[in-house]
Amino acid sequence: MRITGYPVIHRAKLSIILKKDSFFIMSDAKFQRTETTKPLLKVLGGESVWPPPVWLMRQAGRYLPEYRELRAQAGDFISLCTTPSLAAEVTLQPIRRFGFDAAILFSDILMVPWALGQGLTFQQGEGPVLPPIRDAAGLAGLNLNRLPDAITPILETVQRTRAGLPDSTAMIGFAGSPFTVGCYMVEGAGSKDFPNIRAMAHGDPALMAALTELLVEATVIYLSAQVEAGAEVLMLFDSWSGVLSPLLFRRLVIDPTRRIVAALKQRHPAIPVIGFPRLAGMLAGEYAAVTGVDAVAIDTGADLRLAAGLMPARVATQGNLDPAALVAGGEALRREAAYVLDAARGRPHIFNLGHGIVPQTPPAHVAQLLAQVRAA
Ligand code: CP3
Repeated sequence: MRITGYPVIHRAKLSIILKKDSFFIMSDAKFQRTETTKPLLKVLGGESVWPPPVWLMRQAGRYLPEYRELRAQAGDFISLCTTPSLAAEVTLQPIRRFGFDAAILFSDILMVPWALGQGLTFQQGEGPVLPPIRDAAGLAGLNLNRLPDAITPILETVQRTRAGLPDSTAMIGFAGSPFTVGCYMVEGAGSKDFPNIRAMAHGDPALMAALTELLVEATVIYLSAQVEAGAEVLMLFDSWSGVLSPLLFRRLVIDPTRRIVAALKQRHPAIPVIGFPRLAGMLAGEYAAVTGVDAVAIDTGADLRLAAGLMPARVATQGNLDPAALVAGGEALRREAAYVLDAARGRPHIFNLGHGIVPQTPPAHVAQLLAQVRAA
C-alpha cells in the first residue's frame, strides 16, 4: 500500500506504527517527513528552514486578472469549484505567477454543507446564502450519505493539481472546522459575530452537539479522501473561533479539532495538519497542545513571537502578515514583513498572511513580498 505523497510506508510497516503508542506514531511520522525535499513539509516535520517557505491564504482569487477571466467563463462560483479542469487551473495560476511553496486546493469551506444537501448560493457582492438550520428538523434534512458522490469533482481537482505541480511545491487540501462551517449553516449567511449559532451553543447544547458530530464525521471523510487524491498537507480553517467564550472554545473548537486530527492521523499517520483558530488569543497555546495539529496559523492581531511562546516546541507556526500591508505595498509592506521574518527566524515557520488576501491587492505587491522573504 502507498500512502499518497509519502513514498515508502508499506502496509506491514503501517500496522507496526499503529500498534505503537501515539508518541511513536508521531515521531515515526516526523521521520518520514524529514526525507522530503519540499521546504513546507520539512517545516511541518519540525525543521527550521531559512528562508521560510511561503504561500498566502486565498492566493487564488479575484486580485489576479487571470482568475477573473476564468471565473467569468465558469459562470457561478460553485460551478467553478465543481469543474475539475477549471478549479485545477485556478489553483495553479498563483503557482505559475509567483512560485509559492504550496498550492491550496481551489474550493470553499461551504462545499461541505453543499455536499450534505443544504442549499448554497453565492450572491454577487453578498457572499454565501444558505437556508438556515435552527432546529432538529433542519438538521435532519442533511444527509451524510450524499457526501462521497458530491465531493468527487473536488477530489479530481486535487488529483489534477497535484499532477501539475513543480517538485518542490506542496499540495494543501482543506476544510472549514465544524464551528466555522456551522456559523454559516446556522446563520444562513455571513455575519460579523454569528448570534444564532452562539445562542444555540449556549441554549440548546444537544442540538449543537448533534450538528458538531455530523460535521466532525463529514470533515474526516472529506479530508481523508483529499489525502487519498494527493493532498500532502491538510488545513482546518476556524475563522470564527474567536467569537466563543473559553468554555465554548474548548467544547466547540478544541475538542472537535482534536477528534478530527486523531481520526485523520489514524488513517494517514504521516499527514501533517495546520490549524487556524483565528482570534483564539491566549487560548492558541492550549489549542496547539491539545488538538495534535502540526502547525498553528497565527492571525494578524497576534504578536508572532508571543504566540509562538505559547506553543509546544514541536508545533510549527504559520503567518501572520497583515493583508492590508499587502494592499499598501512599499515601505509599509517591507516594515511589516520584516517584523514577521524577525519573529520567525530560528523556528519552524511558514510565512503567510494573518488572514486571506483581499481582492484589491495589487499582484505587484505580492511579487515584492516574495522577493523580500526569499532574500531573508
Ligand atoms: O486560494 C485559496 O485560499 C483557496 C480557496 C479558498 C476559498 N475560500 C475561495 C473563495 C479557501 C481556502 C476559502 C476558505 C473560506 N471560505 C473561509 C475560511 C478562510 C477565511 O477567509 O476566513 C471562509 C470563511 C469561506 C466562506 C466564504 N467563501 C465567504 C464568506 C465568501 C464570500 C466572501 C468573498 O470573499 O467573496 C466566499 C467566496 C469565495 N471563496 C471566493 C473565493 C475565491 C470569492 C468568490 C468569487 O470569486 O466570487
